[in-house]
Amino acid sequence: MFEPRDAPYPELKKTHTMAHVGRPWTDYKPPSSAPVWAAVEGLGRYYILLAALELDVFDELQNTGPTTIEPLAERLDVPVDHLRSLLDGVVAQGLLDQFRDIYELNDTAKRYLVSDGPATMADLIAVAPGPHANWTRLADTVRNGRPATPIEDDPSAFYVPLVEGTFTTMFRCATRADLKIRYSALSAPRVLDLGAGGAPWAIAILNGCPDGTAVINDLPVVIDVAARKIGEHDVAHRCELRPGDFHSIDIEPESYDIVVLGHVCRTEGEEGAKALIARAFTALKPEGRLLLADYFPDMERKFNPHAVIMGTTMMASTEKGFTFTHKQFSEWLDEAGFGNKRLIEPIGFQQTFVATKPRNN
Ligand SMILES: C[S@@+](CC[C@H](N)C(=O)[O-])C[C@H]1O[C@@H](n2cnc3c(N)ncnc32)[C@H](O)[C@@H]1O
Repeated sequence: MFEPRDAPYPELKKTHTMAHVGRPWTDYKPPSSAPVWAAVEGLGRYYILLAALELDVFDELQNTGPTTIEPLAERLDVPVDHLRSLLDGVVAQGLLDQFRDIYELNDTAKRYLVSDGPATMADLIAVAPGPHANWTRLADTVRNGRPATPIEDDPSAFYVPLVEGTFTTMFRCATRADLKIRYSALSAPRVLDLGAGGAPWAIAILNGCPDGTAVINDLPVVIDVAARKIGEHDVAHRCELRPGDFHSIDIEPESYDIVVLGHVCRTEGEEGAKALIARAFTALKPEGRLLLADYFPDMERKFNPHAVIMGTTMMASTEKGFTFTHKQFSEWLDEAGFGNKRLIEPIGFQQTFVATKPRNN
């Protein structure tokens, strides 16, 4: 009788075919455990980076320049051996350089991890995965179909630090998007930014359009972040703040040249996302454009791990949050009546649908 065995024979035997054992190459050479270790190490990798940020390692290295561990430990007031262990973990992830015991910022750290880096993510890293405790209860969340403490229980507690942390990236994306959309060619456009956060899209568009005006919406308290940001960018006099739920606030029909749905659909479920797209359609003037930014998985939900895991992140911490594929959004835009759809990627990993309301609607 044929016995399946886990023996790595050096050559394929006739019995080692799909018909006999299923996976001939797996029999020939067992798969590596690397993906399993990658998952296990993921937790440590994240908390190593978070601890380095909490200890101000990157900002302090910016101040000192290249240095051995002892002076850095003294400045940070921490034990040398513990700091070395932490920094070696950061170096192992390619987020810091070390040559002959001298530690120094590499280009990635200078750009993303020092607090005044040109594309800093320093304030985002603690909040981006959602409430950490929800990850420790993920199996229960799957069992129950709901997280024990969804962010909807206290949205402003979660969103205020989140939108502070994402502003730099989203503002870069929205500013760069002009190269693809040419919003700066519009004369006195009127913009509606729903769930605007710190209003990176509205501010970028107003920066590009000196006569433009914007209505900025977000939940009470979160909208205070937008209020501060529009002041800092000197566009407050061209903005109206409209706090409230984006599903129910008053929106004037056929009044806007651009409506922005920036990373808001993935918490809303299919019905909520479609409702927002429909609201945007009604709000737009004919030939007005919707900008819908999100993390979109591919049709098979496996070739873009960043977007796929963002979907799992939403499931872990929100009531009905899941990402939707390019195809789903594309179909929903069609159903709502939009035409002339494009997908742009102004900066890496930040994709945005641009869809136009037809003239005869
Ligand atoms: C991921 S942030 C995106 C912020 C910004 N649009 C951007 O692209 O950077 C989602 C935003 O939607 C807001 N939001 C969530 N639910 C909302 C609701 N029901 N009504 C209005 N805003 C909401 C949150 O407060 C938060 O600012």
